[in-house]
Amino acid sequence: MTTIKKAVFPVAGLGTRFLPATKAVAKEMLAIVDKPLIQYAAEEAEKAGIDTLIFVVGRTKNSIIDHFDKAYELENELALRNKDALLQIVKDTVPEGVSCVFIRQSEALGLGHAVLCAEAAVGNEPFAVILPDDLIHNEGDNCMQQMVAVYNKYQASVIGTQTVNMSESDKYGMVAGPKVEDRLAMVDEIIEKPAPEEAPSDQAVVGRYILTPAIFDILKRTERGAGGEIQLTDGIAALRKCEEVYAYSFEGTRYDCGSKMGYLQATVEFALRHEELSEKFSEYLKNL
Ligand code: UTP
Repeated sequence: MTTIKKAVFPVAGLGTRFLPATKAVAKEMLAIVDKPLIQYAAEEAEKAGIDTLIFVVGRTKNSIIDHFDKAYELENELALRNKDALLQIVKDTVPEGVSCVFIRQSEALGLGHAVLCAEAAVGNEPFAVILPDDLIHNEGDNCMQQMVAVYNKYQASVIGTQTVNMSESDKYGMVAGPKVEDRLAMVDEIIEKPAPEEAPSDQAVVGRYILTPAIFDILKRTERGAGGEIQLTDGIAALRKCEEVYAYSFEGTRYDCGSKMGYLQATVEFALRHEELSEKFSEYLKNL
């Protein structure tokens, strides 16, 4: 039985909704309290048993490469000052046994194209895709752990979904299909950013996928779709004609950190849960 050991992080988008913050710095390096979005995503993958992190980066994303590199000077400095706890935090950015691969997407041609850029690093095995700007919090098993469990049972592609307000269907890939078990359905239909009257259901695809390698050949043939981009959703629509694809409605709260509102909600709620800050920050909010 194969399981999931590799995760692709497509982080080559332009992040236009956060300009000017994202002019020189990657959107995925924006921090929620004290940790960049990309690190939350990497930790989610590691907890799910993934040991190879594949980052598809763009022109302004060198900070992501630096973040996952060894920081010799900083580590030496912290060691000299006996700042052991901080030193450990820096070292834990990439835990033992985890390796990182970086690939350039030379042009932002869309999420489907970004995933295709990872083909050589993934090879012929199933893999996860995590969009770091969809930050998902859960007290129990994290979203990717839940999805790997579904993959292990069905040995087929799985897409993470969530119920959204129908008026927002034109921001998401929308899916529909018959129920298989609690939280799990087969994907019969999947459409990128449909108008509310054309959406097949209120189930939206959020930034978590487990895909079989058959997706690569399909993406090579996928033409530009919504927004003139090569859409992963269109690739998945073609994949489900050859293989079973499942939609899994995960447990957890999702924050759309690609939008200012979602980013602020995540900041407030993570601060309220943060050991060092929760009491003081809650007091501050009450008095605001
Ligand atoms: P978004 O739709 O959020 O686009 O991409 P964006 O460029 O990051 O942000 P805005 O809309 O301009 O503010 C969804 C995910 O797909 C990646 C992005 O980095 C993000 O993780 N992506 C998108 C790529 O890696 N390459 C692309 O060509 C497009």
